[in-house]
Amino acid sequence: MKKIWIGAFGLLAAAALIPAAVLYSGMVDVSADTPHSPVVYELIAAVRERSIARSAGDVVPPTDLSEAARVRRGAGNYDAMCAGCHLSPGVANSEIRQGLYPQPPDLTALREAGEGQDRFAARQFWIIKHGIKATGMAAWSKGGMTDPDIWDQVAFLQALPALSPAQYRQLVTASGGHTHGGEAVGEHGQETADEGDSGHDHGHGDHHH
Ligand code: HEC
Repeated sequence: MKKIWIGAFGLLAAAALIPAAVLYSGMVDVSADTPHSPVVYELIAAVRERSIARSAGDVVPPTDLSEAARVRRGAGNYDAMCAGCHLSPGVANSEIRQGLYPQPPDLTALREAGEGQDRFAARQFWIIKHGIKATGMAAWSKGGMTDPDIWDQVAFLQALPALSPAQYRQLVTASGGHTHGGEAVGEHGQETADEGDSGHDHGHGDHHH
């Protein structure tokens, strides 16, 4: 009887030690230019989707997501903060996107009909607000985006696949550039509006006082 227990314990210890030894050995490849094995990739994707579905479960989207003002306000922020990774109409790829792993999805692509519009919007809101660990997708709330700013982003993302390059440019220009609320840059005091798309300006006018 005693032998069985010693054997069982030995097996358990070995079962725990082997993965630890592999992890510690330095043999796990963390480089971004070698993909995960399909099993690991699917496992990570499943954990991500379960986690987001659970966390975003009680997020209720506002009813006015198709409002033109929301879409316009979201445009400048998208162009300044997101387009480099998630692309824009007429732009097929970017340097950073090609090197990132996982690769940022092309948000100008039409999404397949799947889950309802509401759940999809809630999912996008949650991802933009909280980010996704170790992927390059930031938690934009930590950078200063408020919930209403993030809903404007979601509104813009819904409109994005239907935009031509010219319509995209027009919206970005009309949006007042990169101010999280999407208002004209001049309203922030010392900063002056420079014809719409003002490049990478956080709209944190107060910091310059
Ligand atoms: C540095 C690159 C980078 C930037 C900049 C970036 N993202 Fe992402 N984003 C990612 C990556 C990578 C993923 C995929 C993460 C994953 O697969 O787990 C992602 C995923 C997403 C998704 C989920 C897409 C889906 O349906 O699966 C949304 C929505 C999104 N980002 C929106 C935004 C918005 C809005 C911005 C700008 C405010 C932004 N991202 C800026 C890298 C980026």
